[in-house]
Amino acid sequence: MNFINSTPLKAGVLILLCLLSITILKAQSTKNTKPSAMKILVLFNTESGGTYKMAKAIAGGIERFPGATAVLKQVPRIKSLENEQKQAFGQIPYATISELPEYDGIAFGSAVHFGNMSADMRYFLDQSVGIWTAHKLEGMPATVFMSAGSGAGREAAILSFWSTLAVHGMVIIPTGIMGNQEIDKTIPQGNTVFGATSLAGATAVSRPSEGELHIAALQGYALAKAAKGNQLTKDITAVTGTASSVAPKTSKIEARLKALNLILPDAPAPVGNYKPFRISGKQVFINQIALNAGKVDHPGMVGTEVTEEQAKLATRQTLLNVLAVLKQAAGGDLDHVKQAVQLTGFFYTAAGYTKHAVLMNEASNLLVEILGENGMHTRATVGASSLPMNSSVEIQAIFELE
Ligand SMILES: Cc1cc2nc3c(=O)[nH]c(=O)nc-3n(C[C@H](O)[C@H](O)[C@H](O)COP(=O)(O)O)c2cc1C
Repeated sequence: MNFINSTPLKAGVLILLCLLSITILKAQSTKNTKPSAMKILVLFNTESGGTYKMAKAIAGGIERFPGATAVLKQVPRIKSLENEQKQAFGQIPYATISELPEYDGIAFGSAVHFGNMSADMRYFLDQSVGIWTAHKLEGMPATVFMSAGSGAGREAAILSFWSTLAVHGMVIIPTGIMGNQEIDKTIPQGNTVFGATSLAGATAVSRPSEGELHIAALQGYALAKAAKGNQLTKDITAVTGTASSVAPKTSKIEARLKALNLILPDAPAPVGNYKPFRISGKQVFINQIALNAGKVDHPGMVGTEVTEEQAKLATRQTLLNVLAVLKQAAGGDLDHVKQAVQLTGFFYTAAGYTKHAVLMNEASNLLVEILGENGMHTRATVGASSLPMNSSVEIQAIFELE
């Protein structure tokens, strides 16, 4: 009898193979879909601390969800607050607009100001054009909480956030009637179906009331739960590949920078009352000098204190600064830059100097090397009798975003 061809043995081997494959697949799927930890931002603006108390309750609710960590941050102030350091929230750091896409979810909170969000919050969100056009917040869960006085216009105030979040394509988490049956209804409670709110102006009990804090905690938990769902969906699509068409692609420009062995510097911070870039329509306007880690590279007049070779190095550094700022303006991805439009190079030179174009070629060539055909631009070069911080060069640049 041929033992190998015997039917019972074949069946046995088949069953064993099936069991083995199931075990391997199970192990793989557990490994691949194991969700990672979540980091959720609680971003608030407060003057007298009411919103901060609500923010802490939201954060507490977030952290009740397994694996979720809440990060409390304030939005920067348009006008500084007297004695801020002495306030309970004085040590809470300010957020930057470019960090928003790093989180798994965001809870936004502010005081109700005339049925609206506060001016500080509005000003902060208005700086999110770059991350909006780069689709950075699309699909991210978000929720809104507030501190009001009497409560006048509090629902409209939450909705003022909602329209901005909708434009970003965020998934908005409302509170509905969650927890309503668990709170004391003999006192006024600020909560709305859109999000937790405190009635700081209402007396009887200290504010936020227990009930308001309770709803805020439930809201934080609901946000974390939605963020987990979003994270799991991302993990699953990463395993199955079913969402390959929408999976993040590698940036072409980053790859080119790597191939050219170039690392963009940190975008220099403004040294006055101005912004590093301004977007108008689809155009971005940027001005930079040869700053490098807070100091100017090769400062002084070209041809006397600075050689032309040194001025070329300073020009390269200036162009890299321009690109670092451009990357911020493009929401962190230079692939969103459609094209360069114009460069204007200013050089600190003596009267009668004529080789500005030779110096400026350094910037033009580098730009085209990095952005390819899209880096081609119109150009002007000018001699200057002095430049800020004694820089030998300044570049004004205009780009177009997609
Ligand atoms: C300019 C301004 C406008 C305000 N408008 C409203 C309002 O429309 N409705 C309301 O209920 N409270 C209003 N308030 C009161 C605040 O919302 C309230 O004091 C809130 O609790 C402050 O929050 P904070 O402690 O986080 O600063 C306003 C306060 C200010 C300063």
